[in-house]
Amino acid sequence: PTDNLQMEGSSNLKRENCRAKGGSPGFKVAILGAAGGIGQPLAMLMKMNPLVSVLHLYDVVNTPGVTADISHMDTGAVVRGFLGQQQLGDALTGMDLVIIPAGVPRKPGMTRDDLFNINAGIVRTLCEGISKCCPKAIVNLISNPVNSTVPIAAEVFKNANTYDPRLLLGVTMLDVVRANTFVAEVLGLDPRDVDVPVVGGHAGVTILPLLSQVKPPCSFTQEETEYLTSRIQNGGTEVVEAKAGAGSATLSMAYAAVKFADACLHALRGDAGVVQCAFVSSQVTELPFFASRVRLGRNGVEEIYPLGPLNEYERVGLEKAKKELAGSIEKGVSFVRK
Ligand code: NAD
Ligand code: LMR
Repeated sequence: PTDNLQMEGSSNLKRENCRAKGGSPGFKVAILGAAGGIGQPLAMLMKMNPLVSVLHLYDVVNTPGVTADISHMDTGAVVRGFLGQQQLGDALTGMDLVIIPAGVPRKPGMTRDDLFNINAGIVRTLCEGISKCCPKAIVNLISNPVNSTVPIAAEVFKNANTYDPRLLLGVTMLDVVRANTFVAEVLGLDPRDVDVPVVGGHAGVTILPLLSQVKPPCSFTQEETEYLTSRIQNGGTEVVEAKAGAGSATLSMAYAAVKFADACLHALRGDAGVVQCAFVSSQVTELPFFASRVRLGRNGVEEIYPLGPLNEYERVGLEKAKKELAGSIEKGVSFVRK
């Protein structure tokens, strides 16, 4: 671990023991890819989370600097940095929650699936580490293409006999965050008062906002429905194009990742009624994985809710989503099985 100074290291240990004795609900969280565009703001926001007692920052580059920087924040979590694959095991041992934003982002003109060749191998290696060092941790997988990387993770865990489908969650929270924002704009509401379920997956037409189930109850014209569906499905591309080669969504993603991780930690703590959308092993459709609303608890995903009543526009969208998703899931599975 790249704790800055020995002195600091020993006072960190004291603080950690102190929190443990005090019985405060501190969880141990690792971020893999912590020096990246998402990883850095995510690390900063997790350092501010009162439910986090220990924060491990792992990357193949630049973690000493990011760790030194974040460790100066006067919040409770003890921060440690880990650099390179030989330190992956130490980064993961003892973790309750592992968040994975490691991997390359899109540039204009690319699809998320164009990232598969590089990111599939990265996710496989990181998940092999998880199955060895913290097989009971909840995993929040952000690396794209999520529709394929979640099946990859599942296959790796199956090979290691550590697979518990309740613990593996593909993060689709940014789709919900965007949907809440864009719908609130149309309705003239505060986005914090809006809740839009987004189901399916996390790429193009697989992102299916259920505008008929928005809370508070409301209705949209056909034109509004088409505008909102398209804007939500293309939100990632909107950011990729605006960044013009400098990457994809990082700040809104870090925000969404923290919102989602925080829900997982509240559920781990035993809070009731924690419900979020996530891409998980599922029987809601005939596909082996699907994003929908799930209830989180101490064991991870404890209940998966059905999609609820869909209107005709959503039923057509669902068929399109399932068709594309099936191929992406199969691509991920066969990457590990081949
Ligand atoms: P980035 O390039 O800025 O950062 C990625 C980080 O991963 C880098 O620091 C890199 O060193 C690190 N990394 C590469 N290989 C690694 C390995 N083997 N082990 C550990 N770390 C490794 O990219 P970013 O903008 O942070 O995006 C990261 C990923 O998240 C991309 O795949 C992107 O498409 C995806 N993403 C997903 C969502 C979502 O909603 N699920 C949203 C935005 C971005
Ligand atoms: C997003 O939705 O912003 C991410 O999946 C990144 C991307 O490539 O669009």
